[in-house]
Amino acid sequence: MSVKELMKYMIDPVADNIFNAVGTSVTKHGVVDVEPKTEEDWDKIRIGAVSLAESADLLRIRRPFTPPGDENDSAGPDAVELSPAQITAKVERDPVEWNARVEALRNVALEAIDVVKRKDVDELWDVGENLDKACEACHRSYWYPGEGAEFYQKLQRRLEQFREQSPSGNAGAKPRKQ
Ligand code: HEC
Repeated sequence: MSVKELMKYMIDPVADNIFNAVGTSVTKHGVVDVEPKTEEDWDKIRIGAVSLAESADLLRIRRPFTPPGDENDSAGPDAVELSPAQITAKVERDPVEWNARVEALRNVALEAIDVVKRKDVDELWDVGENLDKACEACHRSYWYPGEGAEFYQKLQRRLEQFREQSPSGNAGAKPRKQ
């Protein structure tokens, strides 16, 4: 299987077992907290974590990034995704970075397994955040680097302008001196 298929049909679905384990949900009874309560709920998170931990080894095995003929959204000047050839070249230039990103994913999965053992709901929120960071860090580097540093610098400048224009000064949102 290509990396793209591993992502879509394996890693993304099992990651949801972790992402969706805590949060809030709007029902006809109002907003309710979602959190694991039963053994089954905790097992579902464990299924996600064990699968993700093992998927790291699959990502270390060199394989095509896309199925044959799939070039990603990589054509034209406004292309947002790298082509599979560009991703391959980037990994080959610096395999250490790829392996580090894979290891970061595995570490969050191991953290999740530990949190399930201790049934610590508060820490599950952190695990979800860390997992999101591990996915996104790799995607920003290898899949859509157009949204890299420059994109975030632009966003930052827009936010700063917005704060300067705000009449109340919104002091709380300004960066504090160390
Ligand atoms: C080590 C790097 C790496 C990590 C970690 C990683 N991904 Fe990916 N992911 C990729 C690459 C590279 C692609 C683009 C593949 C392509 O289309 O060429 C991708 C693509 C995807 C896609 C798009 C598939 C499609 O149909 O276009 C999804 C969804 C996805 N990843 C989900 C996740 C989630 C969720 C996580 C974390 C739990 C994650 N990925 C972690 C490298 C990574």
